[in-house]
Amino acid sequence: MKIGFVGTGDIAEAIIKGLMRADFPVDKIAVSARSRAISSELAETYEKVTVYEDNQDVVDAGSDLVFLAVLPHQAEEVLRPLRFHDGQEVASVIGTLPVETIADLTGATGSITRAVPLPPVADLRAVTVLSGPSERLEAMFEKLGGVIVTQSFDELNALTIPTTLMGTFFGLQEIVVDWMGQKGVGEADARKFVSNLFLSLARTGVESGQTFPELRKAHSTPGGLNAQIFDVFVENGGDKALTKAMDSVMGRILAASDKA
Ligand SMILES: NC(=O)c1ccc[n+]([C@@H]2O[C@H](COP(=O)([O-])OP(=O)(O)OC[C@H]3O[C@@H](n4cnc5c(N)ncnc54)[C@H](OP(=O)(O)O)[C@@H]3O)[C@@H](O)[C@H]2O)c1
Repeated sequence: MKIGFVGTGDIAEAIIKGLMRADFPVDKIAVSARSRAISSELAETYEKVTVYEDNQDVVDAGSDLVFLAVLPHQAEEVLRPLRFHDGQEVASVIGTLPVETIADLTGATGSITRAVPLPPVADLRAVTVLSGPSERLEAMFEKLGGVIVTQSFDELNALTIPTTLMGTFFGLQEIVVDWMGQKGVGEADARKFVSNLFLSLARTGVESGQTFPELRKAHSTPGGLNAQIFDVFVENGGDKALTKAMDSVMGRILAASDKA
């Protein structure tokens, strides 16, 4: 199989590293030159990776499947001039732009799928969401940590909006570490302690097979300290704040899709 990447930034790099680490059966990976530091390093590290100066050459060389991995505001300028081959499969990882917009910008006649991978695909540890079925992409992302195929635009959005919680995940730990600092704990000790606590709890979430209400109850003795923290958090609007934050991102994504 031959794969091309138009846009060789952070997420393209993560996918390529994951494919190489997983030993995915690919004969050739064609990448565009920008970002040059990333594309040159990939080509130096992996024999199967070749850098092309012209994006059309990437499309021509990545004949079976072409990933589009530029930023949303770059899409129009980068994609309009390209000519895709008859039936060539396209996977867009471009945030917010729906499949219909990609179809319009590329004129591609083959299958077009939106994929939402996350950087840990590089370590085969992220579940990737797809906008619809694709034998190739499902096989590929299954190897990079797992895959979920969605049935509708709303389901795709609902599954991918939580990926924007990455900053909040660390922000929450930042608040805890700051609080510990005010009580006299050194930053390095507090960070080591809190990040490992979150890591072990995240592992329990992945491995236990229990639902989150079950896990919360299993970790909260009635009238105990864990129950108290959650109750005070909810009483002070913590749950509503998080729901509102996700709704606000959903609103932004829907507005961007309408505009596209
Ligand atoms: N990072 C993530 O976690 C993640 C996850 C899922 C989806 N996404 C989506 O994936 C897309 C890429 O994100 P990213 O984080 O990888 O961003 P990024 O690192 O900024 O990558 C964008 C790449 O496009 C290149 N580019 C710009 N103009 C180009 C042109 N005319 N021809 C060829 N390449 C061009 C940029 O090169 P220069 O550096 O030279 O400008 C850069 O390498 C975005 O749409 C984002 O929403 C990202």
